[in-house]
Amino acid sequence: MADITSLLGSIQNIPTPFYFYDLELLGKSLDEVKKHGLTKGYKVHYAMKANANPRILEVIRQYHLGADAVSANEVKAALAAGFPKEEIVFAGVGKSDEEIIVGLSNDIFCFNCESAQEVEVINELAGKMGKKAKIALRINPNVDAKTHHYITTGMKENKFGLPPKEIDQVIDKLPQLANIQLTGIHFHIGSQVTSLESYTQLAQRANDFNVYFRSKGIELQHVNVGGGLGIDYVEPKTNPVPDFKSYFEVFEKQMKLAPGQELHFELGRAIVGQCGSLISKVLYNKEGETIKFLIIDAGMTELIRPALYQAEHFIENITSQSQAFETYDVVGPICESSDAFRRGIELKQSKRGDLLAIRSAGAYGEVMMSRYNLRDNAKTYFDVDLG
Ligand code: LLP
Repeated sequence: MADITSLLGSIQNIPTPFYFYDLELLGKSLDEVKKHGLTKGYKVHYAMKANANPRILEVIRQYHLGADAVSANEVKAALAAGFPKEEIVFAGVGKSDEEIIVGLSNDIFCFNCESAQEVEVINELAGKMGKKAKIALRINPNVDAKTHHYITTGMKENKFGLPPKEIDQVIDKLPQLANIQLTGIHFHIGSQVTSLESYTQLAQRANDFNVYFRSKGIELQHVNVGGGLGIDYVEPKTNPVPDFKSYFEVFEKQMKLAPGQELHFELGRAIVGQCGSLISKVLYNKEGETIKFLIIDAGMTELIRPALYQAEHFIENITSQSQAFETYDVVGPICESSDAFRRGIELKQSKRGDLLAIRSAGAYGEVMMSRYNLRDNAKTYFDVDLG
C-alpha cells in the first residue's frame, strides 16, 4: 500500500500542513464496491460532498460510479470530471432556482426532492425551459441511524426529506405537474452509520413505500437508499477498507424490488474516508499545569470534524525515532478552545519538527476547510506523484 510512512524520504520538504491521498487504497475500496455492489447491478452514486478533489473524482469515475451532487457547483464539477449527465443526481434540502436551472439545462438523471413546494418549483422552472424534469421523492423514513445527532438525517425531527404525510399531496398533484416525471424514491438515514440493523430497518421502510406507490398506480424506476456507511476511525490501519460486502448484502437480502426496478446508493465517506491523511508538523511542546500539549500546525481550519462533531481521528507520529510513549493533548494553532484534535492520547515521544499523520481524513476533510484566521488552505499530494 502506498502509505505515507513508506514515502517519508519524499515528503520532508513539503510545507505542512498538507493532505496526503493514497490512491492505491482508494482503488482497493472501489474494487470492493465494484465486487459487492456494481456487479450485482446496483448503481452507486458517489456523494461528492465527502471529497470533491478533481483527482479523486477522476479515479472514482474510472470505476463507473455516478455522482450525487448537492449544489450546482458540484453538478458542474461532476460534469468536468467526466461523469455523464445521465448519471448525476442532484440532492439537497434547499436548491435555489439558479441551481435547479443548472440541473435542468444539463438534463441530469434526476432531482431528489425534499418538499411538495420544491416539486412545484421544479415543475414551473422546467415548464419555462420546455423540459421535463425527472424527480425522485426523498422521504423521511424515521429510522434511527444511531450516529452523532449532527449527522442523523432520517428522523422525523430532522429537516430532511418529505414527511410521509405530504406524499399523498404530491401524488394527487402529479397529473397537473406536466413538466415532472416521478421516477423514483430516495432515502438517507445519516452518516457514519455502523449499525447494519439500521439499514435493515431502512430497507423494510423502503419496501413499504415502494408498495404504497405501486398501489397508487405509480411504477417507480428506481429506489435510492442513500449512503452513510461508516468507517473505522479507531483502527484505520487494521481496517482500511470498509465492509462493503455485509452492507450490500443487507439490501440484497431485504429489498423487494419490482421487475426492472433499479437499486441506487449514495456512498461518500466509505469510499474516500480512509485514503486521506492530514500531515502536520509539531510546532511546540508545551507543558501545562497538568497536561502536555503538542501544538501542531494543522487546526480546525484544515479538519473541522473534531471541533464540530467531537470526532476522534487516529493520530500517529510518523517521524519520531523514540521508543518511549507520552500522553498528550494534540491541539491546533487556532484561537478557539475547540481547536483540539485529541485529548490524552499516547504517542511516541514527540518534539518540535516531528510529523504527525491524522488518519481517516479523506472524507469531510479537505472539502470542509476554511480560511478562518486568514490561514492558507492546505495543499494536496498523492502517493502516485511521490516516491
Ligand atoms: N446522501 C445524502 C442525501 C447525504 O446527505 C449524505 C451525507 C450522503 C448521501 C453521503 O453520506 P456518507 O456516505 O458520506 O456518510 N460532515 C459530516 C458528514 C455529513 C454528511 C452529510 N450527508 C462528517 O464529517 O461526519
